[in-house]
This record gives sequence, C-alpha cells and structure tokens, in this order.
Amino acid sequence: MIKAVISGTGLYTPPAIIENDELVEAFNQYVELFNNEHADEIARGEVAALQPSSSAFIEKASGIKRRHVIDRDGILDPHRMTPYIPERSNDEPSVQCDMAVAASKEALAQAGKTAADVDAVIVACSNLQRPYPAIAIEVQEALGIEGFAYDMNVACSSATFGLQAAVNSVENGAARSVLVVSPEICSGHLNFRDRDSHFIFGDACTAILVEREEDTKAGQGFEILGTRLKTKFSNNIRNNFGFLNRADESGIGKADKLFIQQGRKVFKEVSPLVAETIQGHLASLSLSPDNLTRMWLHQANLNMNQLIARKVLGRDASVEEAPVILDEYANTSSAGSIIAFHKYKDDLKAGDLGVICSFGAGYSIGSVVVRHR
Ligand SMILES: CC(C)(COP(=O)(O)OP(=O)(O)OC[C@H]1O[C@@H](n2cnc3c(N)ncnc32)[C@H](O)[C@@H]1OP(=O)(O)O)[C@@H](O)C(=O)NCCC(=O)NCCS
Repeated sequence: MIKAVISGTGLYTPPAIIENDELVEAFNQYVELFNNEHADEIARGEVAALQPSSSAFIEKASGIKRRHVIDRDGILDPHRMTPYIPERSNDEPSVQCDMAVAASKEALAQAGKTAADVDAVIVACSNLQRPYPAIAIEVQEALGIEGFAYDMNVACSSATFGLQAAVNSVENGAARSVLVVSPEICSGHLNFRDRDSHFIFGDACTAILVEREEDTKAGQGFEILGTRLKTKFSNNIRNNFGFLNRADESGIGKADKLFIQQGRKVFKEVSPLVAETIQGHLASLSLSPDNLTRMWLHQANLNMNQLIARKVLGRDASVEEAPVILDEYANTSSAGSIIAFHKYKDDLKAGDLGVICSFGAGYSIGSVVVRHR
C-alpha cells in the first residue's frame, strides 16, 4: 500500500504589520467621525452611538497582538477601513497566485523537489478572489507543473480537508505528489468597522507537499497516519457574499456580505466538538492523547486553544505542546494550524506524534495525525 508523507512546508508572510494599538486608533477615529456625523440622530435616540475598541480587550479576549496584511494603509484610513489591493490585468499573476507561488517554492525546497516532481495542486482557502479559472490552475502554470489542479473551500478547515484530498490522490495513485496551498487574504472579507470582529484576521499563505513515502528520503518529513473530517451545519459564522448578490440590489454592501460571527457561541459549541474529534481520531488509530508530543491547532483564539488542549490531554498544555502563532498572525483562517506546524515541527524526533487540527465555519473540523519519520 502507498503511504503518504508530508515532505515539506512553506509560508509566505506579507511584510506589512498592523499592531493592535494602530488598528484600535484607526477604529476609534472612525467611531468619532461616525458619532460626530450622526450627533443629532444619536441625541434624538434614533441612532446608537458607536463604542470605542481597546487593545487590552483584544489581547485578553483573543491573544492577538498584531497581524500581517497585504495592505496597511487602506485598513488604517478611518474614511476607508478596507485594504487597497489594486485589480490586476488578466496577463498578470493574481495576488493569491503570487502568495501561493512564494509559499510553494519554500515547500518544494524543503522537500528537495522541483515542479517536475509534482502532479497536482490544490488551492484550499476560505476566500477565492474569483470563481474561475481556478487559482490552483494559475499556480500550476506559474510553477510549471504538469497534471491537474483545483480550488476548494471549507473555510478555516480548507487546508486539512485539502490534505485529506491530497492523501487520497497519493494513496490511490492518481498523483505522485500534491501541493496543498492556502493563500488567505482574510483582510479582504473582514469588516474593519465592526467592533466585535475588526481585530480578528490577518493574511498569510501556507503550502504543504504531500508525497509517496517511497519518493522521499528515510527520516524525511512526517508520515500521515490518518485524517478525520467532521462537519455540522451552523449559522454562527457566515459570509453571504456571492454571485447571486447582484440579483437583489437591496442586499449589496450590507454587513452580512462580509465575515460575521457569534463569537461566544462559536467558542462554546466548537471547543467540545474539536476535543471529541481529536480524541475519537486518536482512538481509531489505537493512540491516546498521552502519545502526542504536539498539537498544531487552528489559530483563532488563545483561550479556546488552551481549553481544547486541556479537554484533549486532561491537563493544561504547555506552549511547547500547543504552540501559538496567533499573537503574531491573528486568525489566518485555514493557514493558521499549518503556520504553527511549519514553525514548530523541526525540533520533533523520529517517532514523535502530533495532530494538526483546524476548526471553523460550517462548522468544519479537520484532524490530521502525523508521526515524525
Ligand atoms: C470573538 C471573541 C474574541 C470575542 O471575545 P468574547 O470574550 O466572546 O467577547 P464578547 O463578544 O462576549 O464581548 C465581551 C464584552 O466586550 C465588549 N467588546 C466587544 N468588542 C470589543 C472591542 N473591540 N473592544 C472593547 N470591548 C469590546 C462587548 O461589547 C462585551 O461587553 P459587555 O460585556 O458589556 O456586553 C471570541 O468570542 C472568540 O474568539 N470566539 C471564537 C471565535 C472563533 O473561533 N471563530 C472562528 C472564526 S474562523
């Protein structure tokens, strides 16, 4: 039987950074502008005054300190509060393609492979900048890969669901190796005027190369012991942006055409589901949580990750066991757990076990159990 391994990972981090204090300052300027503009309606009780945001709240509630973004200036302009990412001509690579190529090159270099060794590209992310042609096919072309490519979207679980698709293709012989790439431009769908969520997201792109064990060197990378996917419908994280928006003008530009969530409900409902999924997955592989050296969890909320790790392990997890990158990156949707894996895997020894686990809108949960070779 063909076995699938993760032989390399890559990360593209946009150079621009926004600190919490900078984001809060821009938000509070917007609040002041809004409240001044609507002073009469607010005084008459017709419009609710907007409340300011605070860095202390953001760090305490989420663990986020800063985020990397494609564009700072548009987000920090209180009159705009939207990234400025100019459209490109059809002859230029798309922004997501550029990010994907950068991350993929690092994954290939880490694996010691070239485009000629790859048979497929899956672009798996929460937001695709166009419906077609697939970004994945553009990335395939840019890298010079033969074979096939497609896009897929399972929100924050896109990368782990993409990993399962890659494992399937490698194990059933459809491809010798598959690149799973997650170019997440979360700032594009974030409502920077919404106090409850304006701080949540950042931008980044990850890439993972999945290969046949026989095509890799002994001791290289991580054997994929199994993948487990779980979905359960929920309206608590939603984005109604889509191609039918133009068919009803009344909805265009409304808040539901960007990311919206009931954060507290998500926290309460998703945490136990994630812990159960990881525990059930480990049990199905005849493993126990005590066997885990590391948990590379989805990076949305620090308190949530500490709770999940505690539920899985039956005790508090150290930062070595459940590494954190969201302080630096914020929530980068499906890229988050893979950034954690990319940055915190090299110290593991042969035989060490870990789980990559994503969770998010849908709800969707993806668990990937790996063993260092
Ligand atoms: C979003 C999240 C950080 C909010 O944290 P929380 O502790 O649930 O905060 P709440 O929304 O309940 O708000 C708590 C209080 O802070 C206030 N608040 C909200 N945003 C604020 C801000 N930016 N600045 C200051 N105060 C704020 C609220 O008004 C509320 O005040 P009240 O107690 O007087 O009513 C948290 O719920 C979360 O991360 N949930 C998980 C989300 C998740 O994983 N989503 C997956 C997305 S892919």
